[in-house]
Order: sequence, then structure tokens, then C-alpha cells
Amino acid sequence: MPDDLNIAGVRDNFKNSLASAKSFNELDDVRVKYIGKKGELTLLLRSLGKLPPEQRKAAGQELNLLRDQIEQELNTAAIKIKASENEQLELNQQIDVTLPARNDFNGAFHPVMQTMHELVNIMQGLGYSVALGSEIEQDFYNFECLNIPKWHPARDMQDTFYFDNGELLRTHTSPVQVHAMLEYGAPLRVICPGKVYRRDNDTTHSPMFNQMEGLLIDRDVSFSVLKGTVSEMVNAFFGRELKYRFRASYFPFTEPSMELDIECVECSGHNKNCRVCHGTGWLEVAGMGMVHPEVIKAGKIDPEIYNGFAFGIGLDRMAMLKYGINDLRLLFDGDISFLQSGF
Ligand code: DAH
Repeated sequence: MPDDLNIAGVRDNFKNSLASAKSFNELDDVRVKYIGKKGELTLLLRSLGKLPPEQRKAAGQELNLLRDQIEQELNTAAIKIKASENEQLELNQQIDVTLPARNDFNGAFHPVMQTMHELVNIMQGLGYSVALGSEIEQDFYNFECLNIPKWHPARDMQDTFYFDNGELLRTHTSPVQVHAMLEYGAPLRVICPGKVYRRDNDTTHSPMFNQMEGLLIDRDVSFSVLKGTVSEMVNAFFGRELKYRFRASYFPFTEPSMELDIECVECSGHNKNCRVCHGTGWLEVAGMGMVHPEVIKAGKIDPEIYNGFAFGIGLDRMAMLKYGINDLRLLFDGDISFLQSGF
């Protein structure tokens, strides 16, 4: 065998390289190194022509044999690497059948949102459009133009969050009344559902809560249309005819004003120890009245020609009554198991 070809050296090098190849990439490097275009063995094969003719045949045979051997060993190594990769994959993906099954999480509407959608739907059926207004308001819309000047005691009832620039977080949805009149003119039927804010935080008050305002402006609107509208709305919401009581009340932006009480949806007045109505048989649900002429004027509508009514209803309270939720805080705590109970 011609010594200058050093076939044995190439064979040994190959064996060493192969032994340290642990991945397909490394295996491919070995292949290129020995039998690639410029591989060690390839170069030896190319140099055969330089040998004396009598040595070429034997050297050629031996080199071809080595090439077959190298190819075969590379194939075998590839199969081994594949097998160990599979094994590793299986180990990584092993399923622990003792783990608890994953729950099927379903999204759900928050009970207050559900209530809002239901009431909006009912009022849209009565021809009302939705106006959203802005949660950040100016003193003028939240108070002044609703007949609540700076000195007015009604401001104390609505302890307000103010911004440094004098703007505020609306304390009720009523400011949308004047916004809507200015934007759409008369006649007008709008509702405004949304968040309102007051500096109040205890078991029965949250600093953020939800209301829905209703406003109707037209010619010759009577008090009985107001009574019919709100009782229709509440009946439709609870899905049955309830008893009503309208109590005289006071709001600066309506004259006359009243509050609506409905029969207790829990006990209908039959349980002296009822946790919902505390035995009174009645539940206060909304404030309302005929829109004050000054408010109509602020909306740039002539109160000599048009009049109307407005009402404001607490959505959180309505949600609690309809879905039997007895703690206001549940509505704001984000407790997943409560929210998933379905409404
Ligand atoms: N804005 C009042 C409040 O938050 C509720 C209210 C009372 C709204 C009478 C009205 C209304 O539109 O006419 O307490």
C-alpha cells in the first residue's frame, strides 16, 4: 500500500470525529470533512492519478472501500441520533395522567354589563337612542347647567373627585342631558348608561358605580308618560308586573321630582325580616321628574314649546336585585368564581 496516501490516518481521524458527533448538524460536519467536495477522503481519491500506475488499482479499491464504510457508519450514527432524539422528546412530553383536567373557561358578561344590555335593549325598543357622554366632565355640565350652582347643598350629597384643572369625574349620568339636547335638539329620546364616581367607599357604596340616565324632550309630555315609561322598563327587566309607588322627592334638575319604589322582588312585602327590603316591602330604584325649564334652556331648547322628563337608575342595584347578589362588593372585587357563576 502506498504510504504517502495515509489511508489509515484518515480512517482513524474519521472514527474519532464520528465518536464525538452528537447531533445531525455535527454528523453533517463529519460527512463534509471526509467525503464532502473537499473532504479528506475525496482529496485522496482525486490524488490517485498521481500514483505510479501499478499502485493505482489497489489504492483505489481501498479508498472506495473506506468511502463505503464511512457512508455506512454515518447512516448508522444518524439512525442512533434520531432514536435518542425521539426518546428525549418522549421524556419531555410525557403526560402525567394524575394531573387534574384543565377547566373549560368560558367568558361571561359581568352582571352589571348584563343588566346594562338588558335595560338598553328595552329602552331601544321604546325608541330611545344611546348616548355615552364622557366620564371626565366639566363642572358646568355635571352641576351648573343642571341647576346646581356652587353654593347648592346638593353638591354635598355628591362628594366629587376633582382634577387639578377643575375638571371632575362625573358624579352621575345626568350631564348627558344637556350634552344630548345641545347635540340633537328637540324632540329627543336618549339613554345614557355608564360609569359614575363619588368619594364614597363602604359596604354599600363603591367609589365607581353605574347608572343609566333617560331623557325625553317633546311637546306636551305628561307626568303619566314618565310613569308609564319607567314602570314598563322595570317590568320588562324583571319579567313580571310589579307593584309601584311614586314618592314625591327633590332633585334640582327636575320639577316636580319623585322617586320610584318597586315592590320587594325578594319577598313582595311578605317577610318582616327580609334581608333585601328590611321588612318595608319596598325598594327604591330610580329618581326622576319633569325636566326643569332652566335645564331645557341650558340645552338651547325653548321651554315654552318643549318639555320632557328625565330619570336616573342605579344599574348595580338593579343587577343585585335581579340576580340575587347580596353584597355590593362582589360586583367590584373581580372574584373569578363569582363571575363564572353565570347570570
Ligand atoms: N342624577 C341623580 C343621582 O345621581 C339621579 C336622577 C334623579 C336622575 C332624577 C334624573 C332625575 O334624571 O330626573 O342621584
